[in-house]
Amino acid sequence: MASVKVLVLNGVNLGRLGKRQPEVYGSTTHVDLAEHLVGTGEGLGLDVEVRQTDHEGEMVQWLHEAAENGWPVVINPGAWSHYSLAIADAVLQVPTVIEVHISNVHAREEFRRTLVISPYVKGSIMGLGLGGYDLALAHLAATS
Ligand code: DQA
Repeated sequence: MASVKVLVLNGVNLGRLGKRQPEVYGSTTHVDLAEHLVGTGEGLGLDVEVRQTDHEGEMVQWLHEAAENGWPVVINPGAWSHYSLAIADAVLQVPTVIEVHISNVHAREEFRRTLVISPYVKGSIMGLGLGGYDLALAHLAATS
């Protein structure tokens, strides 16, 4: 049976993983995370593709692509999580979306507690570090 395709989409500033606030986000780079998640997918029977962008419109287009193809999405929108209604509207079009945050946004600054995309996702995982992505993929493998 062909593997289920899953897009892992990381938003603004997440390309700087490993360099950016390592005390919050850890020392793993985005390249290493992507490689790891492709391997996790292989173990779970998922065809995982990892993408990162700092451009909101590009993220919206990737979500449209997932909507058109019926691909499940794991998304960490970064700071867009707190204000991007454009990404919220695009997420709404994708049948299955799981939101991941590396940090526990409720335990940080007040502005991070506003989450405009969360109402439109199947579920959210936060505060569990990069392992949150693996958990999201395990859920998709169990339910796809
Ligand atoms: C983040 C949390 C956001 O508040 C922040 O802007 C990020 C990363 C996280 O993964 O914990 O860029 O989404």
